[in-house]
Amino acid sequence: MAGKILVTGGTGYIGSHTVVELIEQGFETVIVDDLSNSSVDVLDNIEKITGVRPAFEQFNISDTIKTEACFQKYADISAIVHFAAFKAVGESVQKPLEYYHNNLVSLLNLLNCQLKYKVDNIVFSSSCTVYGQPDVLPVTESTPRKDAESPYGNTKRVSEDILSDTIKAHPQIKGIALRYFNPIGAHPSALIGELPLGVPQNLVPFITQSAAGVRGPLSVFGNDYNTPDGSAIRDYINVVDLAKAHVIAIERLLDNKHKNNFEIFNLGTGNGLSVLEIVNAFIKSTGVNFNYKIVDRRAGDVEKIWADTTFANNELGWKAETSIEDTLISAWEWEKRMRGLS
Ligand code: UD1
Repeated sequence: MAGKILVTGGTGYIGSHTVVELIEQGFETVIVDDLSNSSVDVLDNIEKITGVRPAFEQFNISDTIKTEACFQKYADISAIVHFAAFKAVGESVQKPLEYYHNNLVSLLNLLNCQLKYKVDNIVFSSSCTVYGQPDVLPVTESTPRKDAESPYGNTKRVSEDILSDTIKAHPQIKGIALRYFNPIGAHPSALIGELPLGVPQNLVPFITQSAAGVRGPLSVFGNDYNTPDGSAIRDYINVVDLAKAHVIAIERLLDNKHKNNFEIFNLGTGNGLSVLEIVNAFIKSTGVNFNYKIVDRRAGDVEKIWADTTFANNELGWKAETSIEDTLISAWEWEKRMRGLS
């Protein structure tokens, strides 16, 4: 039996779905989360889905002393999945030092503890934000990264570099960075999902809250992009499909199936959809209407991006499977459960 998997940010949106998939594949997990952007109730719901309650420690991984104490307490950690990070793009522009401190010191603490306590494997949450607006679409893993548009985006880029340099210097450590495109949807049980704080900044949580009557009309940010309908294009990936890729990445490291000590994979569907296509797909698949209005472009948004998933498909044997319709239905079922709607 492999040792435990330490999941930082494990009560958060992608983290909680990944913990469920890890448990369902027989892994023992330890969650570390400071609950700054998630709820302790997530543990109950993970238990309802899987029948197993994960071990839980509440602290921030940028706390060096607590992080070290955690590695001492759980002596049999075999791998880490590192999600814990601040992720609000706009806020990162206002509070760059908080973002750099939180997102970078946490990674440094983990890597130092990996060396000290001989935990050789790490899977890191990166983002397609590292590509900026690519010159050629779809983007492969070797598409050049561009300067980040925000301190948040830069923390992802710098984190990849920290991992790469550390792994070069300490080849006993192996890492996989997963560059997520746009994760959306919720677990089919509707027991876990995305819990945005305040007004959602991301498209699908805003849509579901608007459809639930919690928000007014959706503002569609721009209809004058160089795209077929003028609205911006993204690659929306189902969060459960995304979570499954983490389990495969962990197994790849534990089973020594990796081809390089530091590997990078795009996690997307390979299909780009516009904001207006998402709006229409939501209305069609759920049968629930909501209003939207066209407003100016949002600063810092790219026009279009979607993934070339060939490398992840071939090397990980992983493919996004859930349709956009089922994914949007899952987001709506989750929103309804949150609001007590039938
Ligand atoms: C954003 C971040 C990205 C981060 C990701 C995390 C930026 C520039 N990028 O991606 O770095 O990794 O979130 O989830 O913020 N839209 C609307 N109306 C809305 C909200 C969004 O039209 O109320 C549009 C956006 O303009 C965009 C698309 O919907 O075209 C998706 O937006 P969003 O869900 O915020 O994700 P990204 O901006 O792609």
